[in-house]
Amino acid sequence: MEFAIEAKKLTKRFGHFTAVNEIDFSVKYGECFGLLGPNGAGKTSTVKMIYGFSPVTSGKLEVLGMDIMTNARDAKSLLGIVSQEDNLDPELTVRENLLVYAGYFRLDRKTARTRADEILSFMGLEDKANDVVENLSGGLKRRLTIGRALINDPGILILDEPTTGLDPHARRLVWQRLRQLKEEGTTMLLTTHYLEEASQLCDRLIIMHHGEILEQGTPAELVQKHVGRDAVEIGFTQKQKIPAELVNRFLNWGGPLVKSHQVLGTDLIIFTQQGEFLSAKLRKQAAVAKIPLAYQNLRPATLEDVFLKLTGEYLDAPDGKGRELE
Ligand SMILES: Nc1ncnc2c1ncn2[C@@H]1O[C@H](COP(=O)(O)OP(=O)(O)O)[C@@H](O)[C@H]1O
Ligand SMILES: [Mg+2]
Repeated sequence: MEFAIEAKKLTKRFGHFTAVNEIDFSVKYGECFGLLGPNGAGKTSTVKMIYGFSPVTSGKLEVLGMDIMTNARDAKSLLGIVSQEDNLDPELTVRENLLVYAGYFRLDRKTARTRADEILSFMGLEDKANDVVENLSGGLKRRLTIGRALINDPGILILDEPTTGLDPHARRLVWQRLRQLKEEGTTMLLTTHYLEEASQLCDRLIIMHHGEILEQGTPAELVQKHVGRDAVEIGFTQKQKIPAELVNRFLNWGGPLVKSHQVLGTDLIIFTQQGEFLSAKLRKQAAVAKIPLAYQNLRPATLEDVFLKLTGEYLDAPDGKGRELE
């Protein structure tokens, strides 16, 4: 078995509605593979088929070398699942949640206790072991859910939006743990609508939109392929959308340095391999032509720019802590 997960023409329909439309992808052993896309893209529908919770409508899906349609039980016992919705037992303590879950995998009591202690320590939950779950913060609950998914030492850890709803600090703590698991060689499949999360954690990813795969590759490959190395952001002083002739003047000044561009309201973003050079050139030309600019900024191009280029959508996170797709 070459791949941990292999999907071919994988499709999920709900009645006449197609949530996942003939997607192909494969996850290698030891990698962290990402499904990145906005809400409604079909990420949860895809992972629910992978962990045998929701039947495959059509196509082929192999998980750890097993056909998930015929071997759902066996495959499931080898997976660690962190579903999108919190399904801890709120009335039990942190440790009890781990022990009860261990029971589902038929771990003997001694092994279960040892495993629970290791997990409590790994997830930084030792001090909370005897706290009742309903009193925990969202971040602690998430850490417990992830820890619980490790109880059976899974062949693949599946995480559906592991940090959605967490504050930036709690999110960072989760990322640290996931990075550690990755270094230890855990195969992971992670869905997210946070671009930063995908670029921080995923070795390879697919970008999903309306049930289809728009692109796949490593974050760096996707950025290089679609937008290039740098982004020069130019803010105009106009109150309304920038006139096309103004945009064209800048693009002409950039000439062959311009790989592609996007106009967002009163901002023009130009993608290029030679950010420093282009940035200086445009600044000078704008000054000569006496075009006032609100600002001009040079930054590395990101996955976010790739998503924008592919979909024409580009959204700001409500908390202002980095942009996200919603
Ligand atoms: N049980 C269901 N019945 C009908 N439609 C569903 C069901 N589950 C999901 N959908 C629809 O499928 C699409 C994809 O949903 P989902 O897989 O949850 O996306 P994501 O996880 O990327 O946000 C959405 O339009 C959603 O409304
Ligand atoms: Mg989802």
